[in-house]
Amino acid sequence: MDVAKELRVGIALTIVYILILGYLVYANSHPSKPAPSQVQTQNLSSYTVSDVAGHNNQNDCWLIISNKVYNATDYLNIHPGGAQMIIPYCGMDATAAFDSVMRHDSRAQAALSTIIIGSIK
Ligand code: HEM
Repeated sequence: MDVAKELRVGIALTIVYILILGYLVYANSHPSKPAPSQVQTQNLSSYTVSDVAGHNNQNDCWLIISNKVYNATDYLNIHPGGAQMIIPYCGMDATAAFDSVMRHDSRAQAALSTIIIGSIK
């Protein structure tokens, strides 16, 4: 192998090395987010159904969905389906209503994970 060729191979290997190193640094600083179902709930409080029932109006609106408790008060006004869809369920179990909406997909699950406050005892 002549010197020029060796130099080219050396440069190519250095570039590959830098790319791999760059990827590793990027991958470490951007850990992938957990899926909504894996969102940690262990450190959250647990509530009874009657604890939740006390938060039953649009200025203080808690919901139960699949045995998890959500504080939807601030979310009401940004709900894509409108606040009026959720308000009747404040203080109640909204699982059936929530699950009946076909458009409640991963975006709705992601929104839920931002307002979770606990689970039912
Ligand atoms: C805190 C609980 C809730 C969250 C986080 C939530 C979240 C969302 C999100 C993100 C969407 C938009 C989906 C999309 O188009 O990509 C949506 C739509 C909708 N939601 Fe909810 N939702 C909640 C509770 C409810 C409840 C209790 C009802 C009552 C049945 C409801 C009824 C609807 C309806 C009808 C739509 C469709 C709006 C449209 O497409 O015009 N939601 N919701």
